[in-house]
Amino acid sequence: MVFDLANILEKNRGQADSLHRAHVNPKWMQALKLIGFDREYVRAQSQYLWDTQGNRYLDMIGGYAVCNVGRNHPLVCKALTDFLASQAPSMVHFDAPLLAGILARQLKGRVGRDLDRVFFTNSGTEGIEAAIKFCRCATGKPTLLYESGSFHGLSTGSLAMNGCASFRDGFEPHPLHFRAVAFNDLAALERELARGDVAGFVVEPIQGKGVNVHSYGFLAEASRLCHKHGALFVVDEIQTGIGRTGSFLAIDQEGAVEPDMVVLSKGLSGGHVPVGAVLCRTVVWEKVFSRLDRAVVHSSTFHMGGLAMVAGLATLAVYDDEQLGDRSTQMGALLRNGLEAMIPRFEFIRSIRQRGLMIGIEFGKPSSLTLRTAWRITNALDDNLFIQAVTIPLMNEHRILSQVAGHSMSVLKLTPPLTISLDDVQHFLASFERVMVGLHRLPGPAWDALRHIAVNALRARGESAPRNDTSDQREAVEWLGAPLSAKDGDENIRHLRDPAEPSKPLNESRQGHQNHHG
Ligand SMILES: Cc1ncc(COP(=O)(O)O)c(C=O)c1O
Repeated sequence: MVFDLANILEKNRGQADSLHRAHVNPKWMQALKLIGFDREYVRAQSQYLWDTQGNRYLDMIGGYAVCNVGRNHPLVCKALTDFLASQAPSMVHFDAPLLAGILARQLKGRVGRDLDRVFFTNSGTEGIEAAIKFCRCATGKPTLLYESGSFHGLSTGSLAMNGCASFRDGFEPHPLHFRAVAFNDLAALERELARGDVAGFVVEPIQGKGVNVHSYGFLAEASRLCHKHGALFVVDEIQTGIGRTGSFLAIDQEGAVEPDMVVLSKGLSGGHVPVGAVLCRTVVWEKVFSRLDRAVVHSSTFHMGGLAMVAGLATLAVYDDEQLGDRSTQMGALLRNGLEAMIPRFEFIRSIRQRGLMIGIEFGKPSSLTLRTAWRITNALDDNLFIQAVTIPLMNEHRILSQVAGHSMSVLKLTPPLTISLDDVQHFLASFERVMVGLHRLPGPAWDALRHIAVNALRARGESAPRNDTSDQREAVEWLGAPLSAKDGDENIRHLRDPAEPSKPLNESRQGHQNHHG
């Protein structure tokens, strides 16, 4: 049998959209189309992607902070192909895979803190599930604490610790014995710990949703409080780890934090093979794997797979060789300085939250009357809407991928590969500045693009008109019906497609929207 991958790809080129609509997730395709992100990428290298037309994109999302070493890093690719060529065994299970031992030793060397046992996983959420089980088993207590706004994954245990209602809704009942504490609130944490039933507190050093940074000292004190009350302290470094924030772990910048477990994943994969690791104190480990008949009491079929271990080892080698932690610090500082310098000029920008190359740009209500009205009415329509006026032109005019930091928040999030260059930083800053100039021009094309999104989001939800109970909502209805200022072919809306008529760009079908809502 001949299996020709290049031929399969070539024969099906251009069909990703229709295949996904037919067989995978049509709603996701609809959402991508709505915001103009429905591109088919054919090549990727480091921080760049190329589409079928050969256009190059700067990737400031980095696969949700997976591609720390850049996409298709030659060393990672070579390591993976060498492994395959060597015909090495993988997933024998009744053996001790050598590569897993080597990777465990390397991770321990970097993480330190007496976290002497390593459990390998295939994803972030699996690491959190393991941590939940280990906490309960080691303490004999039932309850896990998490922070409001947190994100630890979407399997049932992790979801029970998800601080965002938008992810939890519809999946009730959630497992019992999970309690939220307010973000960054030591007094609230201690109150919950004092109830005496807490097995562990699971915390992201910097929350991925919103890029929320704890006050300095919070994490160290939280670990002390946990130990005082007989609970374990678990640090979720799934997103912040492997140099994302400038040091190997984010807690490396936080003073005397004493975790009982550190959970890694994402960046360890080299952007290729799913892998994760839970580093754990021996005393905890020995409570779980306590007897011969419990030697594999927690496990999974694919963990310690050869390719995953090679991806981890190669990633660590690139991380050292290219000093990616330092690079993350330097490039992150340049981005922060450039962005902060724009705050006095652009009313919508409220603050920059940044550690290394984990950056949140927070937008807020502007001071001038016209812009304030525009802000109010877009938010009255949908509190997820405003930020699309930033991500869409970054994509359509500047070919830069960026993302919203979470539901119902006006925060743009950047987690690019740690390999980005000075040129990329300058390109991003110049592009962002142009987008800000457009956004601060009202009426203007950026606001037209927002209206298109609003109208089509309503349609996609099966609503023919927005609610108009409040005066803000009534203003929003008027705004949706007002004539557009954009010329045909305006870059902001050229790529946006009407979900009802996907063959038509929005600016061709916009008359229809005005009739519909006018
Ligand atoms: C902090 C954090 N924890 C856990 C997870 C879940 O990881 P995964 O998607 O690999 O299950 C994520 C994913 O975004 C994350 O950012």
